[in-house]
Order: sequence, then structure tokens, then C-alpha cells
Amino acid sequence: NTAVAAETVDVLVVGSGIAGCAAALAAAREGAEVLLLTKATKPDDASTDWAQGGISTTRGDPAALTKDIIAASDGTADPDAVDVLVEHADAAVEDVLIDTLDIGFDETDSGEFDYAREAAHSENRILHVDAATGTHILRPFLNHVDDHEKIEVRQDTAALELITHEGRVHGVVTDEAPGGHPIYAGTTILATGGIGALYSRSTNPDDATGDGIAMAALAGADVADLEYVQFHPTAYDCEARSASKRSGGAAKQDTFLLSEALRGEGALLRNADGERFMPDYHSDAELAPRDVVARSVETEREATGEVVLDVSPLEFDAEFPTIAAKCRDRGIEGDKIPVAPCEHFLCGGIAVDDRGRTSLDRLYAVGECARTGVHGANRLASTSLLEGLVWGLRAGEDAAGAGADSDPDPTAVDAPDLLNRDPDLPERFAAEKFARLQRTMDEYLGLERDPEEVARAGAVLRRLKGEVDAYIRTRTARDLYELRNASVVALLIARAASENTESLGCHHVVGDESALEQMADD
Ligand code: SIN
Repeated sequence: NTAVAAETVDVLVVGSGIAGCAAALAAAREGAEVLLLTKATKPDDASTDWAQGGISTTRGDPAALTKDIIAASDGTADPDAVDVLVEHADAAVEDVLIDTLDIGFDETDSGEFDYAREAAHSENRILHVDAATGTHILRPFLNHVDDHEKIEVRQDTAALELITHEGRVHGVVTDEAPGGHPIYAGTTILATGGIGALYSRSTNPDDATGDGIAMAALAGADVADLEYVQFHPTAYDCEARSASKRSGGAAKQDTFLLSEALRGEGALLRNADGERFMPDYHSDAELAPRDVVARSVETEREATGEVVLDVSPLEFDAEFPTIAAKCRDRGIEGDKIPVAPCEHFLCGGIAVDDRGRTSLDRLYAVGECARTGVHGANRLASTSLLEGLVWGLRAGEDAAGAGADSDPDPTAVDAPDLLNRDPDLPERFAAEKFARLQRTMDEYLGLERDPEEVARAGAVLRRLKGEVDAYIRTRTARDLYELRNASVVALLIARAASENTESLGCHHVVGDESALEQMADD
């Protein structure tokens, strides 16, 4: 009952960041025919391209990295998942990034890797290229998968719904035809990234609308830890906090990340009175875990009016040319850069096992949309590219094997019938709803969560989702699906936040004094 002939593939990957590329590569290496779908039209539509600091290695001391990941997570990371990450970290970096892609990580004058340090790392162990590591990894990676004879990359194509039957996932329906285009797959791997578009300020591109999480949850997959939304402490504090492009405002690029690597090299945080305040909040000062620094920055901004990152201890322009150029482009001269926390990374997501398998048969999830357990309540810096790489490879390999014994017979399962729907959407509809969604998330599901406000957010988001659902019955516009996905994930975050009354990591519950005492003890 579909408009166009169905397509079939062995392994379908949705998303074109590091996790999607790694999954596609690993499946292709196993001999599978792979289709990588991405709604992106250019590399910087994926969050990977925006990653600055770098990618962690163990630098020969896996136990120390394990300890740091677990400490940064407030003791909540799953030790088995952390073991998987740490055990495979160096081999994955070497195999893919060094041997296959030949990434030119920065070196010292003596030709050794120039390992950097970031907050909550006890060692210098982070490989980087300037502070534009994501760009330098993703672009060659995309070229490599695009050139691979077993991989087809299809850009500007959004997955709208999963095709499911009796607990098994059979592929996706895309927006390639007005009534939806079914692609049947032996196995489907979601690598759709994060949720930055749910907030008005984020370090993610505007495309981060939580698509994979929403599609998986709607199909009945387990999700977990969604209350753990990580805010980066040092994003450029735009004077005019314009709403994002998606909600009708200026582009989200108005803000940008000031990498933790700056603090790793000695940059300091100062309040409007010029005082360095982090030593009063944590014994590791500027290098305390990210959630602690983010809340401390916000407290000082509220108390004194402004917080700046003082880069005077660094050779800023020489050591961090990409970030320095961004500052100079915005007219920020000098060495005091105004900063404020902003949404950065979702620690939770679609629940997966050590090979990226979800609770639904033949459905995998990798990268930021997945919850592996590695991050628990708060992610350690420079572990997101690593997690995407390691789990992408593991899932791709497993999916190629699992798909081989499947018979994705297009006639056996009906794809969701999107026929007779209008592919267009009045532009204002999505912008207005996105604006309401972002306002709700900013106000009630930001750095601090007041249980009454979270309940209020849940009510607003439920209403909003109802309005979107009513529209989606008759329309297939990509914008509308992105809005549907954002509203589903926002509601799931509100629900998770309301169910968890304990302050841990990124989830800070107002009135839970134990968290404040704990922070002081740390
Ligand atoms: C940063 O460069 O500060 C971000 C690194 C990360 O999120 O892992």
C-alpha cells in the first residue's frame, strides 16, 4: 500500500556523525550492503563536526580513565559499559582514525602526540586537532564511507517512522516521496545524535531534534536516563539571547563553545567583580566535573551579572586559532570572553547493550541518541566521539551478522501508510510550536529542576504534543516530523525529570539539599 516500490538493504544506518560513519564502515567491512541515510546536506549539520576538544585515549592507563569517567558521572556510570569503552578505545582510535583515515592529530615539536587535558581528567590523554577536532575527523570519515563500494550515502533524506512488526524493526519510511518511501532493512542502526534544538541555546546544530530517540520510543523501544541533559559551562554568552533559527529567531550559531581544553591549558573563570570563584566551589576549581562548573557559573552570573573566561594565561590566538578566530569574528577582542552554560549533550537516550542493541529486534542505536551507560548522570569531556566510534564499530559489525539471516521481505510487513497526506506545512506552525517548546525547556528543564515547574512543563508539553499529533495525521512535512520528534523527547525528558527526585550529575533538583552538601564535600 505504498506509493513507490520498496527498497531493501542489509544494513540501514540513519545519521552521519562519527557513530553513523563508524557503524556503516564496520558493517561494510563485514560484507554487508549498507545504506547510510542522513537529513544533513553538509558535514556541519552533524554535531560531530562541532566537537572541539578532542577524543580521549587511555594513554596506556585504562584504570585511570575508568576512574575519571566514573567519578565525573557521580558514581552512576555503568562499570561494565565503561570497561567496554576503555578496553576498545585505543584500538578503535588507531584502526579508524590513525590507520584508515590518517587524521593529523596535533603533535609536539619532538613528533609525539600532543595529548591535551580537560576538566575532570587526571591525565593529559586527549588527541586533538587544534580545537576543531570534530571537523578534522568527520570530513575525511564522510569521504571515506562515501567512496566505499559497499556503502551508499544518501543526503537530504529524513527517516520519518520505523517500520515495525511484532517487536521487530524492518527499516524506515523516509520523506523521499510525498506518501513516504519505505526502505526495508535486515537491521537498522539509529545514529541520529542529540537534542540541542529543544533548547534556545545549544552547542549542537539546529538539526539535533532527537529524531532517533522519538522514533524508537514511539515504536516501543526502552529509553533511559533522559533527565541527564548536560549543559556545557562555557558557551559564548551572546548579549542578545536570540531564539534559535528553528523557532523563528536568528541562527543558533550565535553562541559557540569555548572548549574545556582552554581551561585544561589554564584559562580561568572570573565573575563580574574580576574574582576567580571556582576554588570556592570545588577543590579541582576550573577542572571540576562539568555539571559542577556549569551550576557554579550560573550562580555567579546571577549574583554578579557576568562571568568571563579569562584566557590571559594562554597564548590564546596561537594555541587555539579556530576559537580565537570565532571570537575575533564576533568582535570579541582582548582576553576576557563572556560565557554562560548552554545545552550540550544528552547523557541518556535509547537503552542499548554493549553492542548497541536496543530492546527491539534488529534495531540498534549508537552515538548521542543511545544510552550505553558510559556517562551515567554526567559525561566526562572528550568521551562522546570515543563512545560514538567504539559503539558504532561494535554495532555495525553485529548488525551485519544479524542481518545476514534475515529476510526483509517487503510484502511481509506493511510500512506505515503516509499516503494522501499533505507534504507541506504552514511555516509559522512549526516555528511557533518550537518557540513554545524551547521556552518550556529553557525555563523548566534547564540546569535546575524544581519539581513543581517540571510538572508544569509536562502539562505544557503534553498539550503541545497533542496539537502536533493532530496536524501530523494529515501531513508529512519534514519540519513537522522534527517537531513531533522534539515534542516526544521533550515530554520524555520532563517525565524522567519528574520521576527522579534525587540530584545527581546533570539532574539538579531544587530543594534536594543533599546535592549541595555533596558538592561542598567533593
Ligand atoms: C569541549 O571541547 O569542551 C567539549 C568536549 C566534550 O564535550 O567532550
